[in-house]
Amino acid sequence: MYILLALISAIFAAIYFYYKQSFTYWQSRGVPHLTPSMPFGNLNKPWSIPLVDQVTKQYKIFKKRGERQAGFYLMTEPIYIPIDPEFVKNVMIKDFHHFTDRGLYVNDEAQPVIGNLFFSDGQKWKNLRQKLTPTFTSGKMKMMFNTMMNCTVPLQESIGQIADNNETFDAKDVMSKYTTDVIGSCAFGIECNSFKDPDSDFRKYGRLMFEENAIKAMKFLFSLSFGNLAKKIGLKNMEPEVAEFFTKVAVDTYNYRIKNNVKRNDFMQLLIDMMDKDNNGGQKSNFLTMNDFVAQVILFFVAGFDTSSVTLSFTLFTLASHQDIQGKLRQEIKNVLKKYNGEITYDALQEMKYMEQVINETMRLYPIAPVLGRVCTQNYTMPSTNLVIEKGTKVFIPNWGLQRDPDYFPDPDKFDPERFSDENKGSIDPGTYLPFGEGPRICIGLRFAMMQMKMCLAALLKDYEFRMNPKTIVPLQLGFGFVISVKGGIWLNVKRIS
Ligand code: HEM
Repeated sequence: MYILLALISAIFAAIYFYYKQSFTYWQSRGVPHLTPSMPFGNLNKPWSIPLVDQVTKQYKIFKKRGERQAGFYLMTEPIYIPIDPEFVKNVMIKDFHHFTDRGLYVNDEAQPVIGNLFFSDGQKWKNLRQKLTPTFTSGKMKMMFNTMMNCTVPLQESIGQIADNNETFDAKDVMSKYTTDVIGSCAFGIECNSFKDPDSDFRKYGRLMFEENAIKAMKFLFSLSFGNLAKKIGLKNMEPEVAEFFTKVAVDTYNYRIKNNVKRNDFMQLLIDMMDKDNNGGQKSNFLTMNDFVAQVILFFVAGFDTSSVTLSFTLFTLASHQDIQGKLRQEIKNVLKKYNGEITYDALQEMKYMEQVINETMRLYPIAPVLGRVCTQNYTMPSTNLVIEKGTKVFIPNWGLQRDPDYFPDPDKFDPERFSDENKGSIDPGTYLPFGEGPRICIGLRFAMMQMKMCLAALLKDYEFRMNPKTIVPLQLGFGFVISVKGGIWLNVKRIS
């Protein structure tokens, strides 16, 4: 009994001293930070307060104190938070070679199909990024334009029906049907028919992938802090049934195309062509295995579906709450389309500059990735300070705090697309506006995302007017999971216009 008590006391003492020792990290380096406490460090109620709120709080406190950088403890792990936009740019752009990794928890031994571009680090990331970059050129986007455009037909029909029946609709629900159709056809070469079949397996597993709950949030924080331990206990990145479903679809589609010599204008084809090139004695690379192939196809689905549907639903929300801006945007769409015989084309979308302003301003207010991550990969002295950021230190970029900072965006909660006009956009510091990230790890799908969002808005706004429905709780009650969400949803009314 005494031995057991002594053992338990020794374990507690060891944990206590481990914490005490860990909590001296920032103090000993002279980096401002708040006093951490056991067991969560600087996290406050991590099961209910999202990480973005915790990081934004640090940003605001230290910005107000005039600090240019801050330290933070994620449980015992020291995290570096740049406050000054110059420091943000040093990490993301100027000295990126010291911060090439994203540092997410990746268990690709247990789940090889998670080894995708977003999760990969080091040389594997470099190789993949190099290989996949040509997949996203404007030429490739033009090639996919018609495949994507076909997905606006069921969208328009569905919105038309809602308008004719005087119904209200949840913007996120309708937008995610559209983006599922788009990414289904562009990544998997499959017609998902989400409007006709809202409970299709694609939608079911897509929803499951993004479903958030307290257990998932805690698992995420745990694996971020204690990656090695998480691997030892076999913590997976994705629910096994989700991984299985998407793997089967990708492999089946691959086999079908090879066997039947079917070629389509989509991402899958570009990846298949790349594999062929590798296998036929083209440039040797790491991009050889079926797992790598499946991992990228799944990634395109994950990255392309919720990110754009969330951004689109916020755009419809901001337009419904600002009828003048909605009217101005509609006028631009009509003027441009007149030049193209009423047809939405790739070039017509390029000319819709005010639409870009509207989307950019929406993403300033509602960035889908409100905190961005990097890991220091080689010791780095932050210029104009004495601080050496040590190899292995994680960096959190406080995107949300920066994009709503009144010093950079006066009256920050106001929706004002003029901030991004030709006259004004030059004065935006790139270190303060990061909806797609920045530097060599910037979102690779930016062009694709902009094309699909602009196409959707042009197809809808030319014929329909959107208004708020009182069911929407304003101000919006935001939730933060893998991407941001709105509690209770964004409910809108829609009317046909002549
Ligand atoms: C509105 C839509 C989208 C937004 C706001 C968005 C935003 C982002 C952000 C913030 C990052 C992290 C960048 C960084 O760390 O600096 C990212 C990375 C990435 N995104 Fe997107 N994204 C969108 C759509 C897409 C689409 C449609 C695809 C692909 C079809 C895609 C593929 C990726 C990939 C592969 C990465 C990882 C890049 C790398 O690590 O090299 N995204 N995205």
